[in-house]
Amino acid sequence: MTATPSSPSSSAASAASSASSASPSASAASSSAPSAALPSASAASSSASSSAPLSPAFAPIERPRRLRTSAAMRSLVREQALRPADLVLPMFVREGAGENRPISSMPGVVQHTMDSLVRAATEAVERGVGGLMLFGVPEHKDALGSGASDPEGVLNQALARLRSELGDSTVIMADLCLDEFTDHGHCGVLDEHGRVDNDYTLTRYREMALAQAEAGAHLLGPSGMMDGQIAAVRDALDAEGHLDVALYAYTAKYASAFYGPFREAVGSSLQGDRRTYQQDPANGREALRELELDVAEGADLVMVKPGLPYLDVLREVAEASPVPVGAYQVSGEYAMVEAAAASGWVDRDRVILESLLAFRRAGASTVLTYYASEVAGWFAGGLPDHLREFL
Ligand code: PBG
Repeated sequence: MTATPSSPSSSAASAASSASSASPSASAASSSAPSAALPSASAASSSASSSAPLSPAFAPIERPRRLRTSAAMRSLVREQALRPADLVLPMFVREGAGENRPISSMPGVVQHTMDSLVRAATEAVERGVGGLMLFGVPEHKDALGSGASDPEGVLNQALARLRSELGDSTVIMADLCLDEFTDHGHCGVLDEHGRVDNDYTLTRYREMALAQAEAGAHLLGPSGMMDGQIAAVRDALDAEGHLDVALYAYTAKYASAFYGPFREAVGSSLQGDRRTYQQDPANGREALRELELDVAEGADLVMVKPGLPYLDVLREVAEASPVPVGAYQVSGEYAMVEAAAASGWVDRDRVILESLLAFRRAGASTVLTYYASEVAGWFAGGLPDHLREFL
């Protein structure tokens, strides 16, 4: 595509029309009407009725736009790319379910039956996702979250089933937290005053970790924000010979309203909130303290959560971390994209890829997202035209 150097309007038009810059008709249209474009561009400095040609009064020396002139040029200088292998798909499996149950606040996401879980997981892995993060929705709950450490519990059963179907072809991850299994909905067990008891909870996490490792999980994700949870779980695993079972620490996890739809997804019974254990959204500094502790305690990967509202935290953690860093694009972020897209307010597919790219730019090597399988499918099929800018 050649722009006439003497014609500022045609080069500007071709640079600005990114997708259509390869289209002869678009360039013909822009070069056939240069004089029509000029007066409107200069509307601020001359009256709209004026037909006087625009003469540049200033020529910048630095022209960053040169690197944006064509799709090929933009591709050449692009810093970040998405790979399906960087994406982790969170999945929900429901005990005793006869069929899938949609989650109304997360259109497109379901509570799986054991069989549909296997089908969807297999499809995601075939498309190339990097891993699967499993959450269980039990039929019965109690104060201690007994189902979490029961080998017959829904999460452990699902882990075992996926491991036997998928082997080592993907990374099978387990949410290591009690909230789905407790009748009060907290991430730990409660003391006689109704407060979450940190150290007693660690005992439960150790039991849960062993059950998950024995079921076949490759990577455990302690997400309860108890002090010492990484050390406690690492010690329990090592004592039983599970030296290769890795830990994906939810390192900086904020007490966030963005988890709203997740509560429906797991049928949470929580009354109140998690502010005595999850982080205050106003704070950045303590994320680095949590990082230091988790790494010292044996975290193999660390995570920041939620995602987009916490990109600053992600960036700081990514700069300081000696281990790989992930981000979790949580249920509320998903729900917001879906709601806006359903109203026709945003271009859904491009918003999805743009948000995933933002995590990569901020320093995440892996991203947990409910879009993982769908996006991997886009890449597997060769990205459609409207998404090629993300290649
Ligand atoms: C705790 C857990 C939560 C999420 C992941 N693990 C809920 C919470 O901390 O309240 C939220 C994930 C999401 O919102 O998508 N087991």
